[in-house]
This record gives sequence, structure tokens and C-alpha cells, in this order.
Amino acid sequence: MKMIRSLIAGVGAYLPERVVTNRELAQRVDTSDEWIVERSGIRQRHIAADDQLTSDLAIAAARRALEAAGMSGGDLDLIVLATATPDNTFPSTATRVQAALGMAGGAAFDVQAVCSGFIYALSVADNFIKAGQARSALVIGAETFSRILDWKDRTTCVLFGDGAGAVVLRAEAGHGEVSDRGILSTHIHSDGRYYDLLKVDGGASSSKQVGHLRMEGREVFRHAVANLTEVVGEVLEANGLAPQDIDWVVPHQANKRILDSTARKLHLSPERLVVTVDQHANTSAASVPLALAEAVGDGRIKPGQLVLLEAMGGGFTWGAALVRM
Ligand code: UT7
Repeated sequence: MKMIRSLIAGVGAYLPERVVTNRELAQRVDTSDEWIVERSGIRQRHIAADDQLTSDLAIAAARRALEAAGMSGGDLDLIVLATATPDNTFPSTATRVQAALGMAGGAAFDVQAVCSGFIYALSVADNFIKAGQARSALVIGAETFSRILDWKDRTTCVLFGDGAGAVVLRAEAGHGEVSDRGILSTHIHSDGRYYDLLKVDGGASSSKQVGHLRMEGREVFRHAVANLTEVVGEVLEANGLAPQDIDWVVPHQANKRILDSTARKLHLSPERLVVTVDQHANTSAASVPLALAEAVGDGRIKPGQLVLLEAMGGGFTWGAALVRM
């Protein structure tokens, strides 16, 4: 039977120019480069300029992904943008990107799953393509977490950064075989019982309208390793694969120790992990496409290779996707 697959036709990323090192942060809060590197693996992060919005980062990443795909905004049927830091409460940031790219028709909307947002958005877009409702889609993860950090809280402000990454998906007719290129499967989960462990303590409908990110770091860490291990196991089983069949793992970049623990539990070789957390810190929904763009751009990830994407974030939400590039 013929089936439609979503092929990754182009990847792009954008990081704001300004780099803030751990040492610079240590002048603002009671922390040190040693503590941050040892506990998280983070060495620096990019921070958006005051006049740069999430949509600006998203548009820059989207343009690069479209260029890599040899396409323009007019060729797109769909934009799904993952963010927890939209420009405005409404309209969606995706519609601002849509206008900037000159895409007059189709549909554009945001998806909110915090750090798992890109995997959620990829899953949504893939299902649109598989259902025949779109022939092409732009999937973006873009964040300006610097705007929701409490810069006096050393337990959180040292961990996050700003950025955006994007992929262009194109419908390709496959032959129903696992060896075909494109997105092979996506798996998303959430468990709202853990809502309070990682959240912004304000919002449009709350008594406090502008809030800050609050996190029970140790608890989130514990759940992250368990949930990611489980969902990666689910991907392998669904596709009849063993860990050694995976060429590259592109994980959400929250903490180097989470990446290492998950890889160890799953017997995934550390050389096959794409790691950017040292340079980008945690950019929430942007982290997976930023890391993917880096490894595609420098030639590590090659056409035909099997790539596993995974993420975990507030909600809790978590998920994974398997792609043959
Ligand atoms: O993207 C969504 C997913 N998010 C995550 O996955 C984040 C998960 N959590 C983590 O990455 C880690 O839990 C952290 C990096 C947030 C913290 O590492 P930890 O090893 O769990 O440290 P801790 O929270 O247990 O804190 C250890 C100590 C504490 O001092 P006491 O109570 O032992 O005296 C903290 O007050 O380190 C202290 N501390 C700091 N010290 C210097 C906390 N933050 C800092 C800091 N600088 N920035």
C-alpha cells in the first residue's frame, strides 16, 4: 500500500548575537562558572536584544530552512510554531511569521508544550501531511525565555537561553517500508499532575498577569530521565529497532547530566548524541531544531541516516520522533 511520508526538506536556525557567559552571570547572582558547568554542562547562552521578539527569531530561522529546501513562503500550506513565549497573548506568533514569509493561504497556528513543543509541532504537522491536508509545512521552535526568567533566582536564571530552529516538511509518496526517508513515527505524552513542578507563575487568565519561570529542578530532573528513557524505548519498539540502529540522537538540551543518564540507561553511545547545551543552554522548544540544524549544517548528520529526536518539559509533556534524513 502506498503511504505518504513527511520528508525533511530543509533545516535552519537562528541565535541572537549577544552571548552571555557564566562569568557574566556570576556578577549578577550568587553563582559561579564552576557550579553551572558541573551541575548542567552550560557554558554560555544567547540572549535576544530588547527589540527582538520571538517572531523575529522564528522568521530568521524559517528563512534559512526555506532556503535550504529551495522553497519560499508561498510554497507552504501550513506553519506550526511551538513556543511558550509568544509575542502577544494573541494572535498566534505563527500568523506574524506567515505574513513575514509572504504566505497568503493555508493555515498558521501555535502549539504550546514548552520544552517538548517542537516534538509536538512536528507530530501535528506530520499528521496533517499524512492525512493529505497539507503537502508542505514549516515547523518552528522559537523562544525568548530571557523575558520570563527571574534574574534574581540563581536556581533558574542560569539555565536558559533564547533562539529558534525550523524544519520544512514536504509530502513524499513512500512504499510503506521502514527504510523510506522521512518521519517514521512520532510519540507524544503529557501528565498534568505535575503542572506545578515547572511553570510560569502568571498568565493572561491568572490574577498575576506577568509571571516568572519557577522550577523544582531536582524533581524535574528525575522525571526527565525516566520519561525520556520510556519514550525512546517506545520509539525503538514501534519501529522494530535496537539502540545501535540509531545513527544520531538529537535530544532536548536541558542539562548535560540528563543527556548522559538517558544515553547510559538506553545503551546509546555518547558519540552519537548531538550536544549543544554548553553553547545554547536550554532554549525550550527551540533546542531540538537548533541542535538538528547544527549537526546537519556541519555534516555530521547525513542523508539516509536514522535520527531520533526527544524532549521533555513543563506540563509535564514529553515526546520523541524518529526520522530518516
Ligand atoms: O527543560 C525542561 C526540563 N528541565 C530540566 O530538565 C532541568 C532539570 N533539573 C536540573 O537540570 C538540575 O536539577 C539543576 C541544574 C536545576 C540543579 O542541579 P541539582 O544538582 O539538582 O542541584 P540542586 O537543585 O540540588 O542544588 C544543589 C545546591 C543547593 O544548595 P544547598 O541547598 O545544597 O545548600 C542550591 O541552592 O546548589 C545550590 N544552587 C546553586 N549554587 C550556585 C542552585 N543553583 C545554584 C547556582 N549557583 N546557580
